[in-house]
Amino acid sequence: MSMAMRGLFVTGTDTEVGKTRVSAGLLHAVGQLGLSTAGLKPVAAGLIETDAGRCNEDVALLRSSSSIALELREVGPCQLEAACAPHIAAAAEGRQIRIDDLLASARDLAQRADWLVVEGVGGFRVPFDDVRDSADLAAALGLPVVMVVGLRLGCLNHALLTAEAIRARGLALCGWVGNTIDPDMAFREQNIETLRQWLRPAPCLGIVPWLDRPEPATVAASLDRDALTNLIRTTA
Ligand SMILES: Nc1ncnc2c1ncn2[C@@H]1O[C@H](COP(=O)(O)OP(=O)(O)OP(=O)(O)O)[C@@H](O)[C@H]1O
Ligand SMILES: [Mg+2]
Repeated sequence: MSMAMRGLFVTGTDTEVGKTRVSAGLLHAVGQLGLSTAGLKPVAAGLIETDAGRCNEDVALLRSSSSIALELREVGPCQLEAACAPHIAAAAEGRQIRIDDLLASARDLAQRADWLVVEGVGGFRVPFDDVRDSADLAAALGLPVVMVVGLRLGCLNHALLTAEAIRARGLALCGWVGNTIDPDMAFREQNIETLRQWLRPAPCLGIVPWLDRPEPATVAASLDRDALTNLIRTTA
């Protein structure tokens, strides 16, 4: 009998809304609460040179934010060369994105850490091949979902559509994080209040301000510690 996985699936209202920064903050914050943590980026597109070697940037940050020591290929089991839609990047390499393999990677990490933070790719529904998409991966993992809302004009519609899609897959939207990606957003507070009302009963797990250096510890400091503690207690 394999133990149930414990952790979160982090999705977002779009690509480039701060999923990685918030995931790193969550890894840091959950680590501070005394749990061992592991980050996972099941599918990543686009490689760069890093101190740790050639890899995807998200994979590198999730790895360095994990409390346990992990190999790059463990955090990023499917890293694709081209920075484009994953199924296109995979096709260019003659590779396939296999949900079963990604699930096996998640299970392996879940046996070694108390808490997994799995970052999705792009928004909630990104094609993996002709029939399956990233929402199928989220459903296969079955982890509670945290939605990162990139705070900018248009985010209310994107947040509601994403919340609806998450719930339509039978997944629990266990919380959302507002991330300030537009430092000059008009009526930001009113937008946040609207999100609080419309995303209920999902709680707000934090509002991250625009940060010059969005380091894991700084992002973690913007997360609601009580809400996180509650989440960990209730998602056994
Ligand atoms: N609160 C913030 N303040 C300032 N910059 C931020 C903030 N959050 C994210 N950023 C910056 O915005 C960019 C996108 O953030 P991030 O990489 O976390 O997004 P993502 O949703 O993970 O993107 P992808 O879809 O590529 O995985 C990064 O350059 C990041 O440093
Ligand atoms: Mg990312």
